[in-house]
Amino acid sequence: MTIFDKTEKTLQQLGVSDAQGLESLFAELRAAAERERAELVFRGAADQAQREKLSKALRDRWLARKGGFLSQVDQNWLKPAGKELKPVVGRQFNELRRSTAGLELEKLLEAIPLQQAQVVQMGLPLAFDAAPAAPRDLTLPGFHRPLGSIHPVTRMQREIEDIFLRLGFRIESGPEIESTYYNFDALNIPESHPSRDDWDTFYIDAKTVLRTHTSPVQIRAMEKYGAPLYIIIPGKCYRHDNPDSTHSPMFHQIEGLAVDEDITFADLKGTLDFFAKMLFGEKVRTRFQPSFFPFTEPSGEVAVSCFVCDGQGCRVCKESGWIELMGCGMVHPQVLRNGGIDPDKYSGWAFGLGVDRFAMVKHDINDIQLFFQGDVRLLEQF
Ligand code: FA5
Repeated sequence: MTIFDKTEKTLQQLGVSDAQGLESLFAELRAAAERERAELVFRGAADQAQREKLSKALRDRWLARKGGFLSQVDQNWLKPAGKELKPVVGRQFNELRRSTAGLELEKLLEAIPLQQAQVVQMGLPLAFDAAPAAPRDLTLPGFHRPLGSIHPVTRMQREIEDIFLRLGFRIESGPEIESTYYNFDALNIPESHPSRDDWDTFYIDAKTVLRTHTSPVQIRAMEKYGAPLYIIIPGKCYRHDNPDSTHSPMFHQIEGLAVDEDITFADLKGTLDFFAKMLFGEKVRTRFQPSFFPFTEPSGEVAVSCFVCDGQGCRVCKESGWIELMGCGMVHPQVLRNGGIDPDKYSGWAFGLGVDRFAMVKHDINDIQLFFQGDVRLLEQF
């Protein structure tokens, strides 16, 4: 049902019974009025007669005493509203009246040539070819285009990249549509591994997947550059995970990889501890616990002491005092070999972290879905 159909029904028929529902109903109507006004004003009109005709039609559609949308709102929403809702409907109705004042005939006729002149001034064609050439007046005010801001996940990614760039790492990237060879085989993930299952992986065909992690770029980079190698790999990943507050079928990871002579687990610990302190503050401590990944041996999970409560237990760390950060480990010799690097001469460490989850922790956001809904009420806070 369009918003215009809704003006023909009563609030009761529409099931709107509270202030919030009313506000969004009126907001929808105000937006529609502004859209129609802008369309007319921007499109312009071929000549004065056509301009007047289109403007009058628009004015009547909204403001006509008989059958105009405002009068329908008066009849169908305001008049029959119950005692409790009436003051809210009344306020909203007054606001609607104010915001549709620009639909009065004189106002529309004043606005059209002004905007047309701006459009011509910008060198854009008018929608009506026969429009009279308006003089280019450079003193006219410009269009106001509100600026956006950087998405919180991108911002987090850049913060992490900056830390590793300072340590001498380079940024590398790879394809999001990946072969099963790079996504699994070359990383030592056997046929029988559960992550190959349909449940976790989006298959495009039997040999092609949407990459489930950024680790395949480890192999691609080893093949391309050989050793020594110090890279981080940011990028989108995809898994057949049901969306919930901590899972999204599309999410972002950053992979880290260092391969050189004499690289040890101490290098991994030192680097990740430095990284955590740079990101969360000097005071945090890191904790390494054993874990398993087929492409690292030994493997670990890194956690950081909660930067909010200093390890005492709070909402952010779910009372545990620790925040899980990432998986990591020493690159498996077979993985080095698969990348064309001699494991007798070189060794390496790697890690993989979820950027979205980092952004959630850092900004105390409790639902990952909020990042991908494009709701300005969240985004304009950044
Ligand atoms: C991996 O993907 C390994 N490739 C990481 C790695 C790299 C380990 C190198 C060792 C060496 P894991 O499946 O745990 O590991 O995913 C890493 C992170 O991605 C998780 O900690 C989480 O933050 C994030 N992540 C995984 N699935 C999702 C999802 N569906 N939505 C949001 N974030 C996710």
